[in-house]
Amino acid sequence: MSTPEFFDAADRPSTATALAKEFRDVFGDEPEGVWSAPGRVNLIGEHVDYTGGLCLPLALPHRTFVALRPRTDGVVRLRSRQEDTVVELPLAEVGAGSPQGWAAYVAGVPWALAQKEFAGGLLTGGFDALVDGHVPYGSGLSSSAALECAVAVALGDLIGAPLDDAGRAALAGACMLAENVVAGANTGGMDQAASLRCHEGGAILLDTRDDTVSQVALDLAGAGLALLVVDTRAEHSHAGGEYGRRRANVEHAAELLGVPTLREVDPAALGAALERVGSEPDGDVLRRRVRHAVTEIDRVRRTAELLHEGRAGEIGDLLNASHDSLRDDYEVSCRELDLTVDVARAHGALGARMTGGGFGGSAIALVAAGRVQVVAEAVAAAFAEQGLRAPRFLTALPSEGAGRDL
Ligand code: GLA
Repeated sequence: MSTPEFFDAADRPSTATALAKEFRDVFGDEPEGVWSAPGRVNLIGEHVDYTGGLCLPLALPHRTFVALRPRTDGVVRLRSRQEDTVVELPLAEVGAGSPQGWAAYVAGVPWALAQKEFAGGLLTGGFDALVDGHVPYGSGLSSSAALECAVAVALGDLIGAPLDDAGRAALAGACMLAENVVAGANTGGMDQAASLRCHEGGAILLDTRDDTVSQVALDLAGAGLALLVVDTRAEHSHAGGEYGRRRANVEHAAELLGVPTLREVDPAALGAALERVGSEPDGDVLRRRVRHAVTEIDRVRRTAELLHEGRAGEIGDLLNASHDSLRDDYEVSCRELDLTVDVARAHGALGARMTGGGFGGSAIALVAAGRVQVVAEAVAAAFAEQGLRAPRFLTALPSEGAGRDL
């Protein structure tokens, strides 16, 4: 039998305290404070945040921490507990493609805040930052958004920006801009919204058409349920290019349909929309992409309704349909994700699906609380049997968004 390895969340107060101490050792001075932001899992609403759709993500208890101290000379000096490199550059050199690697997600944030006219002395003065990531990296659980959002909430806090939901929405927009331009990943805004705007005990229903959020209570334990996250540890191979191609597909389809985004296609009129895009040279692909987006947005709506009615135990079929659509129509799944989903379903999960961008990364399974271990063992055994790298497991407790620790 394979023993499943669980990736536990770091204890928030002691991690923050240890990071402040290390900051003193590294930079020779006290940090101004320590802030942290969570990774996320998306319950449902996948690959629709760049076409005006609805998503239902929740924040994980797993967080990325940053200890930070403002400077006055316009330089950023960055260290990470997970990386050997020390990055130092003038803020004036931050822009498209600079700096590269993890530092883009840190230095990109003040750059993006300045673009959005969140101006202030601190932003031009630069800062020293020490980062400590406890969100599984490269697992489709938004470790990069957690890093951006920890920095954003730190800078926002220090310049006295309001940290109510509207202020957080503005910070999320800046983080997305940093990711799109400085890091060069053309993603939608779901991950940053989740990291900044979620609250303990719930998911957010994010409407990417107008960036509004409503809180959706998610009392899984009260319903006798648990949300198991399986990090398949499969690399997101070619994910960058494929993500961009999916985005191009839906943008092309929206243009053909004469709508700004696929959100504007009424599910009741889906047949006509499919017929229209189906007549194009790449019609079969476009049909399937449109069918995914329109049906997925509708599934989010139905999931949110069930959750509002306290019927979390009934969302499993919608999760299953979401995965099948992502696998067959949107073609963003992979062998490890499909295996996880199949095994979880066969071992009694109420529903299971890939979560995040796909092509590797993580899947979620909604299971009876007492069956977490059984399902995890079954998945671990199936991976071992097929000679795949051992997956890792997390339980997703809906947690608090970004904030100050010290
Ligand atoms: C990645 C992106 C998000 C979203 C998901 C798919 O996580 O960062 O913006 O598009 O993929 O739902």
